[in-house]
Amino acid sequence: MTSDRVDRRAFLQGGAAALGGAALALGGRTAWDATASHAPPPSDATGQAIVPARGERQAGVGTAPQAFAAFVALDLRDGVDRPALARLMRIWTDDIDRLAVGRPALSDTEPELAQVPARLTVTVGYGPGLFAAGGLEHERPDWLAPLPSFGVDRLEDKWSGGDLLLQICAEDQITIAHTTRMLVKDARTFTSVRWVQHGFRRTPGATEPGTTMRNLMGQVDGTRNLVPGTDDALIWAADGPAWLVGGTSMVIRRIAMDLDTWDTVDRTGREFTMGRRLADGAPLTGSHEHDEPDLEAVDAIGFPVIDAAAHIRRARSEDPSARFLRRPYNYDEPPAPGTLSSSGLIFVTFQRDPVVQFLPIQRRLDEADFLNTWTTPIGSAVFAVPGGCRDGEYLGQRLLQP
Ligand code: HEM
Repeated sequence: MTSDRVDRRAFLQGGAAALGGAALALGGRTAWDATASHAPPPSDATGQAIVPARGERQAGVGTAPQAFAAFVALDLRDGVDRPALARLMRIWTDDIDRLAVGRPALSDTEPELAQVPARLTVTVGYGPGLFAAGGLEHERPDWLAPLPSFGVDRLEDKWSGGDLLLQICAEDQITIAHTTRMLVKDARTFTSVRWVQHGFRRTPGATEPGTTMRNLMGQVDGTRNLVPGTDDALIWAADGPAWLVGGTSMVIRRIAMDLDTWDTVDRTGREFTMGRRLADGAPLTGSHEHDEPDLEAVDAIGFPVIDAAAHIRRARSEDPSARFLRRPYNYDEPPAPGTLSSSGLIFVTFQRDPVVQFLPIQRRLDEADFLNTWTTPIGSAVFAVPGGCRDGEYLGQRLLQP
């Protein structure tokens, strides 16, 4: 045995003794003692939680957002027609049914990884190209097209468009990686991967249930939003083509945050930009997060407390139908050479009709919004989310069956 190994062993033993001392100092209770008042929940509470995959509506829209998400856009290969699309949907439906309850996919190469469903949801969206490939142009909703371009946009192909979309959400990253791999493998003879985006919120248990998430600019993000169950008429299609009933539209915008220049803005400036306080998300005219902002309020010298170009003023319209469900995720990627960060929001919205609901607000923000100084849309895509899959059906059957 070399003296080096002796020294390391002595060091490790010393370390263990020191840890033992710390445990004694805590009254004999170690930090991971399950009886401690702040003990983590039993491992199965999150890991074994299941969100039903089937129903009138697809899961993953009205579902309370899980901690992690992958968005996978796929392009159809040449020659993929309506019968081929129906075959793909049958395979996906079967594997989603299985994975959502913690069972392996049909030809699962790593079946052990399927055993932790962790509130897995898979939401499937159809891009404009699917309708062209399937000879289904007459079924394509008028709104299903790329958004018009905006002055603030700096869109990159690598984050935009797609014929098909998988939104895969769960409370566990391994579950997401495994589900993604199974479903992309299922689709490999039909599609090629166009882009993948990974997003995150707080880990389950890290904050009190019901806490609004924070984005990477530090803001409380999601306070004033549509509420599934209450605002369903604005979220879900109730009429129109049969395949879309119980469905919705999905807009995905990748919005980069320039955190390196945001760093130079002080707290007052940051709060002025939004019209809300950083500490608790309360409007500058109120004291609690959910207080209604007073847009008429002026300060001692007569200026509006919530400025005309503050994000929350610009993001609301007089028209109560111009609202949508925001279900965003943060992203944080390795920075480009010479920069310190590459962070932002995967800004995901669901609404019955994006032209009527989303576009007017995006236009208002394009015209004026203090936040535009630090945020830049770099990706954009629109998908139709078909209605859910009832028992005995496969996803999209009402569109794809002959
Ligand atoms: C990186 C870009 C963005 C960031 C960091 C951001 C952040 C925020 C924050 C912190 C709030 C206030 C809290 C809340 O009510 O949720 C908010 C509100 C809102 N944002 Fe954004 N946002 C971004 C982009 C957008 C875009 C592109 C849209 C729409 C096209 C939008 C629409 C809204 C709406 C509708 C509200 C609620 C306004 C209200 O009714 O008071 N946001 N946003």
